[in-house]
Amino acid sequence: MISDSKPSHKPRIVEIEEKRIETPTIATLMFTDERCSRAQPGKFVMIWIPSVDEIPMGLSYVTEKGYCGITVRQVGEATKALHRMNVGDRVGVRGPYGNGFKVAEREKVLIVAGGSGIACVAPLIEELGKRANELTIVIGARTSSELLFIERIKKTTAKAKTRLLASTDDGSYGSKSLASDLAITAMENSKFDLAYTCGPELMMKKVAEECFRRDIPVQASLERMMKCGIGICGSCVIGEYRVCKDGPVFDGGVLRNLLEFGTVRRDASGMKVKV
Ligand SMILES: Cc1cc2nc3c(=O)[nH]c(=O)nc-3n(C[C@H](O)[C@H](O)[C@H](O)COP(=O)(O)OP(=O)(O)OC[C@H]3O[C@@H](n4cnc5c(N)ncnc54)[C@H](O)[C@@H]3O)c2cc1C
Ligand code: FES
Repeated sequence: MISDSKPSHKPRIVEIEEKRIETPTIATLMFTDERCSRAQPGKFVMIWIPSVDEIPMGLSYVTEKGYCGITVRQVGEATKALHRMNVGDRVGVRGPYGNGFKVAEREKVLIVAGGSGIACVAPLIEELGKRANELTIVIGARTSSELLFIERIKKTTAKAKTRLLASTDDGSYGSKSLASDLAITAMENSKFDLAYTCGPELMMKKVAEECFRRDIPVQASLERMMKCGIGICGSCVIGEYRVCKDGPVFDGGVLRNLLEFGTVRRDASGMKVKV
């Protein structure tokens, strides 16, 4: 049994046991890891790709039997290298790190996920579904072929009272609108006890601002450039917080006063750039 009280920052080498092509640009890699299997929804791991890089990834699958997964969108060198990997290849895993989401019970909940943001909230949706919550889930993507986990969400929330709303930029699935606009309409039509959001920061900012206006407690999972993942290098700093240690999930009380939320992030050199 591995003790959680003594976190080890040494990568554990795991073998890829399954590769699922989810969309033309997104793939899921499954592996077995005991520590990850006990991760709270919203936590992330640092994935070491030998000879390439080490990058942060949310856990998109967490099962008690130790079978876990990451769901990767191809954007640059490291994510492309992960997409080239196959069953039997090995990566290093550090973590899980960060705080994760606080999981509601018996509440009326809104979840808003854009693009690959659904990867980080999928385990949260599964937990919320088990705890008698009434869920409205808004998922957005550029186009229908990029919409992730629709069938998985339908299946895992079959027992919960769930409403799934999808939007695409081109109208090829669901409504032709932005996920944030669909979420605002949902807030106009129903009263929610709390909201969760993960995805492009401008989308999360819009959702969070609407929540502030309506006094709905909100939790948002932020993405920042991360190098160490354990609070040393400062590359993930936003305002006075380090996203890897203090986040990645921040609640409305913090977000409301965080001037850099939705405006400024740091690039790989540490320079501040526009979100
Ligand atoms: C806590 C956390 C969880 C994440 N979970 C997922 C996930 O589940 N699935 C997924 O596909 N991606 C996730 N990401 C983003 C992922 O880590 C980056 O896309 C990846 O590091 C890019 O590496 P690369 O070498 O492929 O591209 P690079 O060449 O390093 O970057 C490509 C572009 O993406 C930008 N970028 C790189 N890293 C980040 C970052 N952390 N935040 C914002 N922009 C960045 C760069 O500035 C550049 O414009 C997560 C990031 C964080 C911080
Ligand atoms: S990634 Fe190094 S301090 Fe957060």
